[in-house]
Amino acid sequence: MRVAIFASGNGSNFEVLAQAFQAKKIAGNLVLLFCDHPDAYVIERAKKYKIKTVSFTVKECGGKGLYEKKIAQLLEQENIDFIALAGYMRVIGPLILSKYEGKIVNIHPAYLPEYPGLHSIERALADGKQKTGVTIHYIDSGVDSGPIIAQEHVAILADDTLETLEQRVHACEHRMYPRVLAQILEKR
Ligand code: GAR
Repeated sequence: MRVAIFASGNGSNFEVLAQAFQAKKIAGNLVLLFCDHPDAYVIERAKKYKIKTVSFTVKECGGKGLYEKKIAQLLEQENIDFIALAGYMRVIGPLILSKYEGKIVNIHPAYLPEYPGLHSIERALADGKQKTGVTIHYIDSGVDSGPIIAQEHVAILADDTLETLEQRVHACEHRMYPRVLAQILEKR
């Protein structure tokens, strides 16, 4: 099983997954990081784990259609069987979806279907909710809307700031993602 991770930014989820693959806690090989932001910190993390990284932007490709096509070519060249999104902030287009149906998972920092899209942690805090959560799901053509695989709640405390709540949500993600991805890939 040849696995690719797609990420856009900091890459803390990428790093816990890379560690779990290297420690053989997840079946399969993490062989590729694709990143749509050439300056993202996740690229530095990938160097540390010696994971091949490819990065290009939609703009460089001349639009969304050509961008998707270039990613599809890359996935074919690298013989990728499965994709884990880890803070990848774009919707996967129809070309890649058709080739990887049921083979792309995403992690989202909310208890879906609550708070899909951007700024999910901030919005849950601003709404005065007592809990939010983390969801891992297969992706479909919508925004954070595919079939749910696993979910956990994260409490929102009375004195939480965005920073403290983000830390708690991320800690939950870092515990969940390696465990859930291991379960998914074990069965394949
Ligand atoms: C994570 O909280 C992830 O759930 C979220 O981006 C963050 C990336 O952090 N993803 C989404 O919001 C996707 N809709 P990281 O770069 O440190 O892993």
